[in-house]
Amino acid sequence: MTTSATEGHIADHKLAQHGVQRIEWAAREMPVMRQIRERFKRDRPMEGIRVAGCLHVTTETANLLIALKEAGADVRLTASNPLSTQDDVAAALTVEYGIPTYAIKGEDNDTYHQHLRDILQFNPQLTMDDGADLVALLHTTESDRLEHVVGGTEETTTGVIRLRALSAEGKLRYPIVAVNDADTKHFFDNRYGTGQSTLDGVIRATNVLIAGKTFIVAGYGWCGKGLAMRAAGMGAHVIVTEVNPIRALEAVMDGYRVMPMVEAARQGDIFVTVTGDMNVIDTGAFQVMKSGAILANSGHFDSEINLPSLTSMSEGKKELRPFVEEYRLQDGRNIIVLTEGRLVNLGAAEGHPADVMDMSFADQALAAEWLIENAENLHSQVYKLPDELDNEVARLKLEAMGGSLEVMTPEQVGYLGSWEHGT
Ligand SMILES: NC(=O)c1ccc[n+]([C@@H]2O[C@H](COP(=O)([O-])OP(=O)(O)OC[C@H]3O[C@@H](n4cnc5c(N)ncnc54)[C@H](O)[C@@H]3O)[C@@H](O)[C@H]2O)c1
Repeated sequence: MTTSATEGHIADHKLAQHGVQRIEWAAREMPVMRQIRERFKRDRPMEGIRVAGCLHVTTETANLLIALKEAGADVRLTASNPLSTQDDVAAALTVEYGIPTYAIKGEDNDTYHQHLRDILQFNPQLTMDDGADLVALLHTTESDRLEHVVGGTEETTTGVIRLRALSAEGKLRYPIVAVNDADTKHFFDNRYGTGQSTLDGVIRATNVLIAGKTFIVAGYGWCGKGLAMRAAGMGAHVIVTEVNPIRALEAVMDGYRVMPMVEAARQGDIFVTVTGDMNVIDTGAFQVMKSGAILANSGHFDSEINLPSLTSMSEGKKELRPFVEEYRLQDGRNIIVLTEGRLVNLGAAEGHPADVMDMSFADQALAAEWLIENAENLHSQVYKLPDELDNEVARLKLEAMGGSLEVMTPEQVGYLGSWEHGT
């Protein structure tokens, strides 16, 4: 194991070649990133900029960071979740691509937090977060490093919620682009990416048949919609739980039953939370669940299933397969929890397919370039990715997928821009 703070901290250097192969495989499915990477290599828009990434250490993330490095940046990476690291990718980045990485799959919480502090040691000018952990550190114990930071990006819904809370208190200290809020991010990554990869995680961990099961989706936001759609597509009977009446109504009209978790708990075979909230599956639900119910989370933090409560109701637990733990309840039932209640798609599978991360990470790359170009005119607030960049990513992806746009005639442009026309 390498422990030097300058070289990264990874599980095994010998995995590097395997990592390179998988990173190159992902690159084949990332045509938009490929174009950005070629331009970055030519124009070097990030020359000398120190970038700290706190992102899931996956093959797609590797492609983003390689593009930034080729743009001239000095890049380091740490994980945004203790279970989501692909050790071969961490090795490849550190050994083959000159991107020191501080991440080991299954690291404990202390190591996870040490790694966050490790990459801040080089005083980054740009932070790239997935869940706002670097931002949180830079606004508390590491605030003496803030003077170097000119901007940041945030990848996920939960991180954007944390940033908006910080900003609302007037405490945000540098400009951050909420990449999650770009249409080319959450319409696709959260919906189709989470929909597919969450099922992939549940299936790889358990090998259960989805057809005919009662599948509970907690939260009918972007991730929940995708997950419900894909579970139904595989033949599950989907029940949705929601706290927002409009989203609950959408779920009803999309053909699902909607009810509170304590009612759904009696019926469910498989439960997945995607709310970004805490204790979404709680004591009252555990009390009435069928023996053998399978619980997983695909929301950002491991707070959605109340595991301390489940633990206190249990006589013990044991691992049945990798990422599959059985809790034995005092009344004789058992409840199965996947990936310790952490993101199941990244813990038990490989995260989203490269094809959809192509857009999210194109948004990240363009946001980073935009922040550097505009640093002097930006304020300490949460920014949306400019629409022209969002649209450009959509246009390039559409082209790559073989679609092409209709073009409006001048007559149509005039018609849609006027108020005089009517019946
Ligand atoms: N697994 C992944 O790879 C992945 C990818 C993208 C986003 N995420 C994470 O998934 C979570 C959801 O993201 P999103 O973009 O769908 O957010 P969203 O805001 O679109 O949806 C969340 C939904 O959960 C509902 N909700 C909140 N509390 C609830 C409760 N107690 N019970 C039932 N419903 C409740 C909200 O009303 C909302 O409709 C976030 O934590 C986000 O960071 C994970």
